[in-house]
Amino acid sequence: MREIQAPKGVSEYFPPRSQYFEFVRETLITAAKVSGYQLIELPVFEDTDLFKRGVGESTDVVSKEMYTFEDRGGRSITLRPEGTAGVMRSVIENNLDKLTLPIKVWYSGAFFRAERPQAGRYRQFYQVGIEAIGLNDPEIDFEVIAVADRAFKALGLNSYRLDITSLGDSASRASHRKDLLIFLDSLNLDEATKARAAINPLRLFDDKREDIQKAMAKAPLLLDYLSPESADNFARVQELLTNAGIAFTINPRMVRGLDYYTGTTFEFVSDKLGAQSGIGGGGRYDGLMAELGGNDLSGIGFGLGVDRILLACEAEGLFDSTEVKSELELFVIALSAEQKSYVSNLVNDLRNQGINCDMAYGDRALKGSMKSADKSGARFSVVIGSDEIDSGNVALKDMKTGSIKEVRISALSVEVKAN
Ligand code: HAM
Repeated sequence: MREIQAPKGVSEYFPPRSQYFEFVRETLITAAKVSGYQLIELPVFEDTDLFKRGVGESTDVVSKEMYTFEDRGGRSITLRPEGTAGVMRSVIENNLDKLTLPIKVWYSGAFFRAERPQAGRYRQFYQVGIEAIGLNDPEIDFEVIAVADRAFKALGLNSYRLDITSLGDSASRASHRKDLLIFLDSLNLDEATKARAAINPLRLFDDKREDIQKAMAKAPLLLDYLSPESADNFARVQELLTNAGIAFTINPRMVRGLDYYTGTTFEFVSDKLGAQSGIGGGGRYDGLMAELGGNDLSGIGFGLGVDRILLACEAEGLFDSTEVKSELELFVIALSAEQKSYVSNLVNDLRNQGINCDMAYGDRALKGSMKSADKSGARFSVVIGSDEIDSGNVALKDMKTGSIKEVRISALSVEVKAN
């Protein structure tokens, strides 16, 4: 019989590496929480139209990479390829914009894109994201970028850089678009490329074909078309970043993979990863909420790629220690089969008292059980035989130092907590 394997290109995490995945994810989430963002938990599948309208039909994400299927009721459903459109849908549907603005939310979970799998590029991957909705202010742009930067620093990452640009307001984009379309008309583009350009001409800056890249070197840049207000906003964001000591490079040719962006946009790139070096990105999306049928509120946010950030941490040697990070405080071993049920009860009682503990299962010899205690990463261990049960005393062993302290079994929880 054929062995069943995971679907092609998905990422998965199991012990011992899963502890580092969890550490990365929790560190990113903490950075969001401590800046006032609150959890929003949304479905992983949505009405397909949400992404068509929200993310844009000129994007690879919508045109080539969505997992779309018909459900049993004949509705077109898509596994979420990104988080922002769903957040906007929920804000509109649940009238969250009637609350105090800005709405600041964070999310964490799986996202799905049918991309060609390679190192750091998966078909199911994980993001931690934040969205700040209802405020068009350089201060909030700065806050969002700073949350990501603080999260990376908290992880200990060093070798990454921040690229920023501004896509301006609608007036800036309209005047640039006019000149860009005239420029593109002068190029000999094939029909498919022309069709893409008609939906979003900025996409051509991101075209990987050499001849197009060469031609686009002379294309007019949106940054040169910013309205005075957009230019002021962008200058203020730069000033705030500089004051905060957050280094950045202005990249006027940056094109994000999603069509909803306006104003400040940014990408964090790791120097330690190969082709898939984008560890997070985001930007402002004024107009998205109105496009989805809601009020015309502005917003800004980011999505950080947990899988790639883990790879970057590993590439920077941040998780080299072979030490198991364990939540366990105590590991209990029965000397022989007769003490098994006593130990089982004791462990259950200790857990009820809030002690993180585990025990050696099965009929293994003491040596094997000691190995399990070592592997568990628990801080203390005890071995319980008939003598211990009779006397009520055990030798509490500190697994790091090897030192031993005689304690009452009834005082185990107090002793473990006190040390
Ligand atoms: P995005 O740039 O498409 O933005 O994705 C954000 C991050 O998710 C990327 O920088 C990357 O680290 C990770 N990522 C994307 N695709 C994959 C993949 N196939 N495999 C592994 N990692 C991947 C968004 O999704 C926007 N919703 C971010 C945002 C929020 N903008 C405003 N608010």
